[in-house]
Amino acid sequence: MVKGMAVKTKIIEGRSMADDILSDIGRHIAERELPPKLAIVLVGKDPASKIFIEQKLKACKRIGAKSELRELSENATEKDLFALIERLNDDKSVDGILVQLPLPKHIDEASVFSSIDPTKDVDGLAVMNIGSALHGDETLIPATVQAVIAMIGMAGIELGGKEVVIVNRSSLVGKPLAISMLKRSATVTVCHTKTMDISVHTKMADIIVSATGQAGIIKGCMVKEGSTLIDVGCYKTPDGMVGDFDVESVSGKAANLTKVPGGIGPLTVAFTMKNLLYCANLQEEEE
Ligand code: GUN
Repeated sequence: MVKGMAVKTKIIEGRSMADDILSDIGRHIAERELPPKLAIVLVGKDPASKIFIEQKLKACKRIGAKSELRELSENATEKDLFALIERLNDDKSVDGILVQLPLPKHIDEASVFSSIDPTKDVDGLAVMNIGSALHGDETLIPATVQAVIAMIGMAGIELGGKEVVIVNRSSLVGKPLAISMLKRSATVTVCHTKTMDISVHTKMADIIVSATGQAGIIKGCMVKEGSTLIDVGCYKTPDGMVGDFDVESVSGKAANLTKVPGGIGPLTVAFTMKNLLYCANLQEEEE
């Protein structure tokens, strides 16, 4: 590629792959004696969480799975939440449990994910599953991680030997994604709120995955020509839904950019359903 020449940025969408995955899961569920059941737990009233949960409930309906939403108030204690998780762990009719993040600040995320039965852990965040992933066993890993890896594959990019920068260090995205990228022999840098200058890292990256919570934070001047940009952000603004990448300035510089909305979002929902089916099969084996 000649430096300085405008690149034609390819926009990668996730909806059609998500549709294929959901149809495939639907076929598997139709062959089962009983449909799987997902229990979603929401603590508080985070508006973005409500939207994400609606998408998951809709996907359950589409694939023929059952679902239930358990809501606890913002002031619910850890004890209240643990008691609910214990009931869901013991409930034979429940195949998968998903505790929606973020949780209120007074609740310790790690303890919550330690308390979920690893065989019902639709998010792949229970200590046993995340620990297995660290040892290379990706049987049950977070849906967002699967969605990012699938998107990179869809762009025709091989991860081995690539410089990858992840701008997020959460347990749901940044940390498990770094593990999966390392497994695929990428060189991984994880940036976060204490990183002095994110652009020092992003400018060198072949692939940037960003989920910062800030709309349009990654500008064209911060990315390398020909890079692949995976947008895990999705925010409501007066201009509509946008992600972490400033589409206007990265266009013509990046080779690939995932769509927002309609990129990582629908794929994450689809892979959550895939994890649910996997958990349901585990429950069946245990009977
Ligand atoms: N919050 C945003 N996305 C997710 C997700 O995939 N799982 C959970 N548990 N919380 C989320």
